Amino acid sequence: MHNLATAATPETPAPTRGPSLVTETPFVLRRAQLVDVLQLAALVNGYATEGLLLPRSTEQVALALDNYVVAVDAGGRVLACAALEEYSPSVAEIASVAVDRQFRGLGVGSHVVRAAEQVARQRGFLGVFCMSLAERFFTALGYESVSLERYPEKMARYERLAAEGVHIVPKGCFTKSLD
Ligand SMILES: CC(C)(COP(=O)(O)OP(=O)(O)OC[C@H]1O[C@@H](n2cnc3c(N)ncnc32)[C@H](O)[C@@H]1OP(=O)(O)O)[C@@H](O)C(=O)NCCC(=O)NCCS
Repeated sequence: MHNLATAATPETPAPTRGPSLVTETPFVLRRAQLVDVLQLAALVNGYATEGLLLPRSTEQVALALDNYVVAVDAGGRVLACAALEEYSPSVAEIASVAVDRQFRGLGVGSHVVRAAEQVARQRGFLGVFCMSLAERFFTALGYESVSLERYPEKMARYERLAAEGVHIVPKGCFTKSLD
């Protein structure tokens, strides 16, 4: 059941909007559905308290549901998620990358990030970026470390949120071109 890493497939197929994309692994990758909203918000907010991710209300998650990909087990438990946020017509941010603490280090995070990249490709984005402390995780996925100055609107958003009292830990900025 927990042997996710060895069961993982080398290529992550594009997640589907409707029925689950069933893999030979103990989890499926699919686009998020309404039934996932509470679990998604709880998963992300569990890391937001540490400043690792920005907090999301259930309303924010529900309104942006189409942007989330999830890894779920056979019982519908959300093990991991990632969300795509348009930054510009050609660039999207991969945000809210979170893996349930019990399932970290098993390859699930890599799968949801690749699934979000696939959605980005399908939507016509040429590149993605991500803000994170997990440098080795993103470089292993082909991301390059760049200055946040490359994304001034993201910098401005952090400044606004910090002024509102949101706990934000300074993170690295990682970018990847989508071929
Ligand atoms: C970062 C995170 C998404 C990684 O997911 P995961 O499923 O545990 O990662 P994987 O098992 O796919 O790991 C792939 C590689 O990244 C490395 N890695 C995993 N988490 C890492 C971290 N926090 N920092 C640095 N490297 C990390 C792994 O060691 C592995 O490398 P290896 O194969 O050389 O051992 C997960 O730990 C998490 O939810 N962290 C808290 C939230 C967060 O920081 N999100 C990222 C910002 S959007």
